[in-house]
Amino acid sequence: MQQRSAERDFSAYNQAQRGRPVRPVARRAVDIVLAREHAAPPVAVELGSGAGVEARFLAESSFHVHAIDGDPSVEQLLEALGESHGISPVIADLGTLEALPAADLVLSCATLPFVRQEAFTPLWETMREALRPGGVLAVDLFGEHDDWAGTEGTYLARAEVDALLEGLEVLELTEEERDGRSFAGPKHWHTFQVIARRPV
Ligand SMILES: C[S@@+](CC[C@H](N)C(=O)[O-])C[C@H]1O[C@@H](n2cnc3c(N)ncnc32)[C@H](O)[C@@H]1O
Repeated sequence: MQQRSAERDFSAYNQAQRGRPVRPVARRAVDIVLAREHAAPPVAVELGSGAGVEARFLAESSFHVHAIDGDPSVEQLLEALGESHGISPVIADLGTLEALPAADLVLSCATLPFVRQEAFTPLWETMREALRPGGVLAVDLFGEHDDWAGTEGTYLARAEVDALLEGLEVLELTEEERDGRSFAGPKHWHTFQVIARRPV
């Protein structure tokens, strides 16, 4: 049984992520942001940056990156990336964030489902407020049929996902259900992958 999120230990997961390829959703989101001209380097906020694979890619793609994660075991790693790549690391619980820097990209891979339900709605509002006009939101969400639904976190029905995206231009919305594996073992996945843009 998956643990309550306060008890989940992401450090082993994050250590195992070092050296893996950049997630394709991050590459597609970057292409969309960089297709527009920016007077200054674009800004990205990454929620749940883990081992920093995507944060590093964003920095190498000319973004200034705010990389936020709650796992203390990645603090040194993010600080090292901060020094080598100009990334601003923040170790914080996403459920306590009251504001985010204005951003051209808000990215969150495989993280938002672990945010407690009561904290998710305010966090989502904060993420949307951070988006500059034309800014892109690229996120993974989990659905109500996911094996982990019912544990602490946020697991959504399709209609709830649609409601979250109201007022945004939805560029990609892929809902998937499949049997597979997680870091913890076999699992039924119900996921939504979203790329959406704040209208200019
Ligand atoms: C499954 S990992 C994904 C990491 C990375 N985005 C990736 O795709 O490999 C989830 C990440 O979210 C972080 N996380 C989960 N819940 C969090 C919370 N409430 N506040 C801050 N970080 C959290 C964990 O520490 C972990 O690094």
